[in-house]
Amino acid sequence: GNGLRHRAHASGLKIGAAAQPTALAGNEGYRTVLSREFDSVTSENQLKWDIIEPSRGLFDWSSADALIGFAEANGQSVRGHTLVWHDALPGWLANGSFSPEELRNLLRDHIHAVVGRYKGRVDAWDVVNEAVADNGGRLRRSPWMDALGPGYIADALRWAHEADPAARLYINDYAVEAANMKSDALYNIAAGLRRDGVPLHGVGFQSHLALGADLTTLGANLRRFADLGLDVAITEMDVRLPLPATAAQHAEQADLYTRVLQACLAVERCVSYTVWGFTDRYSWVPYAYPGWGDACLFDGDYQPKPAYLQLRRMLVDS
Ligand code: G3I
Repeated sequence: GNGLRHRAHASGLKIGAAAQPTALAGNEGYRTVLSREFDSVTSENQLKWDIIEPSRGLFDWSSADALIGFAEANGQSVRGHTLVWHDALPGWLANGSFSPEELRNLLRDHIHAVVGRYKGRVDAWDVVNEAVADNGGRLRRSPWMDALGPGYIADALRWAHEADPAARLYINDYAVEAANMKSDALYNIAAGLRRDGVPLHGVGFQSHLALGADLTTLGANLRRFADLGLDVAITEMDVRLPLPATAAQHAEQADLYTRVLQACLAVERCVSYTVWGFTDRYSWVPYAYPGWGDACLFDGDYQPKPAYLQLRRMLVDS
């Protein structure tokens, strides 16, 4: 084959993409590229609490089932995203008033239900997403932190492990690619969890980048987490450009994509490199950053961009 996935096998690293079943359903170009290029598929939204349980006790598994079924039909592994987050909570939960004990029970039951349903079918879970605050290296305030305190992280990992003992369990965060105050905080959390024997197997580095991102400490940063006995993974890579983007900006984007892959290839325990959407047609970036976009490997018509071609060249040589 000509895709990234077949080339990546040689280096023992999975190349993945986040995907959306709405795009899958009506769109042959989307399905073709997703199955041709990627070893692994991440559920961009389908396993988030707001989609799984929009009303209390009313579960909708249809879109998660569709995505996981697609991955299985194409021999791809699945990264499950995400079980515990401050965002994408259903209204009944975000706006409800629950005692700490009720919240603890809700969280435990949620994790058991979701992980249990897909037991043996989801290789890795982003169990806890974005737990670290942006400033000062503290844990972020959230319904979980406020009600349950910092122990919610270990509890969530233990509950996920109960539901699927074979799944690889991750904590995942953004703006932790470089060595900085936030990644130091994440490192201390990971080290503490390891020391306490909590079932944590990996750390995800989202890697939502913009031009000018400083990657000089990325390799050393990945390595210090790996040295804790953990897998590390690039989980949500993209590089947003100001619109309309120039050829020079596309070249710089290609450099950032390949330098992150290079850093991952250089760390033995870096097990996967996942892009957050593969086509500009469905990227989250223009919604979150008006005036920005063009962040993915393929354009809106599934044509490869310089970043894709440069990644593929690097995988051939590795
Ligand atoms: O499906 C509904 C649709 O029915 C409705 O009409 C429409 C109107 O807003 O919303 C649609 O849902 C949107 C959903 O994406 C599916 O497209 C939500 O509003 C929107 O908030 C949601 O955004 C997602 C966001 O997480 C929040 O869950 C993005 O697609 C997704 O890319 C983004 O992903 C996050 C990771 O989980 C964590 N790291 C950062 C990353 C980017 O923000």
